[in-house]
Amino acid sequence: MIEVLERILNEITEKLGYGNENKVIESNRPELCDFQCDNVFKLAKKYHKNPIEIGEAIVHAIQTLDDFCLYFEKVELAGPGFINMTVSDSFINKCLRYMQESEHFGIKKPLKKETYFLDYGGPNVAKPLHVGHMRTAIVGESLKRIIEYMGHKTISDVHLGDYGLQIGQVIYGILQDGKTEEDITLAYLEETYPKISALCKEDEQVKNACSEITKDLQDGSIQYQKLFKKILEISGNDIKRLYRYLGVSFDLWQGESDAYPYIPEVEKYLEAYIKDSEGAKIIPLNELPPLIFRKSNGAYLYATTDLATIYERITKYHPNHILYIVDNRQSLHFKQVFEVCETSKLTEGVNLEFLGYGTVNGLDGKPYKTRSGDAPKLDNLFTQIKELFATKKDSNKEMSGEDIDKIVNAILKFADLQNSREKDYIFDIEKFSNVVGKTGPYILYTYLRIDKILKCESIKYKINGIIYNEIDRKLRLQLLGLEKALTSAFDERKPHYLVDFIYNTAVLANQFYQMNHITGLEDEEKKQSWLYVLYLTNRILKNMLELVMIDIPSFM
Ligand code: ARG
Repeated sequence: MIEVLERILNEITEKLGYGNENKVIESNRPELCDFQCDNVFKLAKKYHKNPIEIGEAIVHAIQTLDDFCLYFEKVELAGPGFINMTVSDSFINKCLRYMQESEHFGIKKPLKKETYFLDYGGPNVAKPLHVGHMRTAIVGESLKRIIEYMGHKTISDVHLGDYGLQIGQVIYGILQDGKTEEDITLAYLEETYPKISALCKEDEQVKNACSEITKDLQDGSIQYQKLFKKILEISGNDIKRLYRYLGVSFDLWQGESDAYPYIPEVEKYLEAYIKDSEGAKIIPLNELPPLIFRKSNGAYLYATTDLATIYERITKYHPNHILYIVDNRQSLHFKQVFEVCETSKLTEGVNLEFLGYGTVNGLDGKPYKTRSGDAPKLDNLFTQIKELFATKKDSNKEMSGEDIDKIVNAILKFADLQNSREKDYIFDIEKFSNVVGKTGPYILYTYLRIDKILKCESIKYKINGIIYNEIDRKLRLQLLGLEKALTSAFDERKPHYLVDFIYNTAVLANQFYQMNHITGLEDEEKKQSWLYVLYLTNRILKNMLELVMIDIPSFM
């Protein structure tokens, strides 16, 4: 709709000699009009004229168009130069029909299909996944789905933290306990990592020993490699299980360790920039602290593996973009890495983006903790939500396990994705489990109620020219806002625009069926038109919920 309105305006301003760069936006004051164009002020400046004069000329030209009624109900100049537009009902319906009949609801395909490489998840092997790891997984997966929906290609990589100090610590524990590969279980890992990690904080010697082990592992020690493989297998399987529960998947299951073979090549490529500094190798940067490429003991660091990984990704997969969905607190690290990539032209022609995300906080505004004071493991969080949801209503206890899992997912994801990615948010389980409010259960409930109406009636999938009342019109216009919501989510890499769209649609849909009783309606034409609106609403809701990884349970 906006595209057509812009085209109409552009044709007119071009004829009037004012160029063709009009932007049409949704109205700031929906009680006055549906859309507005504020371009007149710019034109007035550019052409040294009075905005009212220009505005009146444009409005007059629109009003005298032969096919005015096809598109508009009313167009007027408001205030010092706003063009306010109210579209005609037939135009609304025409656009809805186009949405209904087109692939992806008629969202414009990109001029050029590009490859987006997404780096998200990034769990650290041998450490239990907790609530903080959920955000990168959920935001990353959702962005991946949105990017694909917009017509691009994606490649996703989990980028496991699999070569860091935590592995050295676990191996240290294994050796101390006199264990072998066969003894390594998930329970053993979950107990050993925190134990040795705490010990390292107290005992410098243990810490050094763990660093030594990590370094030897990286250098290829056969004994350590064997243990590492087993740790990776056990912990990796558990990570995969949790991601499966969340509906998060990856094309590549690579880790930091996979970057090691590329270090010599990237080191050679960056030769001119790498300097010696007290035995270490560093890359001085303009306004940032230097990037440390190799420590004086010969060990490589996080930045080194990221550079080597970039090298691997661009040579193997030739992406146009590499997106990192990583905790805000790592922004300095990525600034350093990106600066090296840019000055050395390593990533020439490739767009690198750091998409930071904020912290998940508890009611106290501090990082979300369990009662015992640690970050809750994801498993426990799932159970906690299940239990809470069961207490909300007696019939909830009778739901199938599969349906409950879908609801748990909806609660978590709707809570998370409604916040702008880079902001911290308070995770209030109680609030987000309710069936009222901006919550997953509210959306699911709305969908299922509409679905029930649709199943009871036979729909002819035809829309007539009439819009029957205000809420009817509001809902129809809301559906037309889909492209804008998706485009904003895609352009800004922020799924919350889509979540807002889903929520606003659900609110209007709820009002719609409360005010417009379909069952028993005698006017068949009206009934069909309303059924059609609800049918399209639910189709859109379902497809958009898929992009935020929310599945619909069989009943609620
Ligand atoms: N494993 C890292 C962490 O937990 C996150 C990895 C992010 N991705 C990357 N390419 N550095 O902090």
